[in-house]
Parts: sequence; structure tokens; C-alpha cells
Amino acid sequence: MKKIIVAIDGYSSCGKSTIARQLAAYAGYRYIDTGAMYRAVALFALRHGLSADAGIIAALPLVHIDFAPQPDGIQHTLLNGQDVEKDIRTLDVGNRASQVSQIREVRQFLVEQQQAMGRDKGIVMDGRDIGTVVFPEAELKLFLTASPEVRAERRYRELLEKNGAETLSYEEVLHDVNDRDYRDTHRAESPLRQAEDAVVVDNSQLSRDGQFALVCDIFNQRTAQP
Ligand code: DC
Repeated sequence: MKKIIVAIDGYSSCGKSTIARQLAAYAGYRYIDTGAMYRAVALFALRHGLSADAGIIAALPLVHIDFAPQPDGIQHTLLNGQDVEKDIRTLDVGNRASQVSQIREVRQFLVEQQQAMGRDKGIVMDGRDIGTVVFPEAELKLFLTASPEVRAERRYRELLEKNGAETLSYEEVLHDVNDRDYRDTHRAESPLRQAEDAVVVDNSQLSRDGQFALVCDIFNQRTAQP
């Protein structure tokens, strides 16, 4: 069976990483969470007190991002060798990531690394610009979507589980989801948009298993094609 590139794009908190991870395990492919890379740059900026774009751009050569596979199959993000998986998942870092992702030089810096990771194919990558900018030639592009309310509810539960101390209301999370959607779709640099040849998967009403079965079918059809 031929190896392909699977590009998964979509709004924040619509389950991109869940389906990307499931599909990568099913196919025996490598999974890359590009949101984690933007989050790692944001964390670096926060930790070093870099707020101006120029300072962040100048510091990029000092930012080394890797992924370390864990025994449970989940990959942890490493920033300059340090495991920052938990630190990058806060709402604060997410918001900062949305800001740093608007800087052209940050995007160029990360996109180059992402393209290098896909050189041998056999990769599932998720983000906002994977099917449009990083791999416009990807053999399979999925565009995931769900209503803002459903996504806020999922994110709210996730935050409660992960950072119990971070007490945010559902309304605050919904507000944040709407804000982030606006920024992701309206920025000048590689705004989130659906590639023309992407398959749209609206998972508002789909169970995880239902979505996985659907996506596996699409994947099997694509890899069966000569
Ligand atoms: O998917 P996420 O929430 O972890 O992404 C964090 C931020 O990074 C999000 O606001 C948008 C940005 N991002 C991006 O601009 N391009 C990508 N390929 C992935 C994420």
C-alpha cells in the first residue's frame, strides 16, 4: 500500500489531534501536532519575557522543538530538550500561540521544519495551514469542524481534567473559542481556510468511534488508489 501525507486542518478544539493520533496509529504513520510547535514558540517567548515581534524573531535560532514518543503512544513536545507537554496546554499559552502564529517569520521557521518531516511521507500532520501551505500536494486533506458551543464544551471539560486549578467558566471558554476562531481565520499570514480539495468532516454530532470509522474509510480509499 502506498504511503501518503494526511493533512488535517480545522478550528481549535474540534478534535484534530484525537483523530490525527488515531489515524496515525491505525496507518503506522508518524503524527505531528503543529499547534504544539506554535505553542512551544509562545512558551519560549513568555518564559523569556519577549513581547515584541522583533525580539521573538531574533530568538528563533535558539528555539529547538522535538517530539518524544511516550510508551502510551502519546508524543510529548520538547523545547530545547525539556518536556513542556503540560506547560504548553494552558489557555494562556494557547492565546499567546495564536498571536505568535501571526508573525510571518515564525510561520516560515516552523513550516520549513514541518515540510522536512514530511519528506518521506507516511505522516499525519494537523494544524491550520497544512493542506493549504505546508503540504498543498497532500494526497488526503481533511477539514474538521464542529459548532463553537460543542467545541467550547469539549475544551472546558479537557481544561478541568488537565488543570483543575485553572478555574474558568464555560462562558469564558466559549468566548475564547470565538476569539481564537476570529484570529485564526482573519490573520494576514496563512489564515485558516479549507483547501478546495479537502474532505469536510463536521463532528458536532459524531462519536469518536463514528468519526474514526469514517476517516479510516476515506484513508483506505485514498491509499488503494494507484
Ligand atoms: O491547535 P492549537 O490550539 O494547539 O494551536 C495553537 C495556535 O497555533 C492556534 O491559535 C493557531 C496556531 N496554529 C497555526 O497558526 N498554524 C498551525 N499549523 C497550527 C497552529
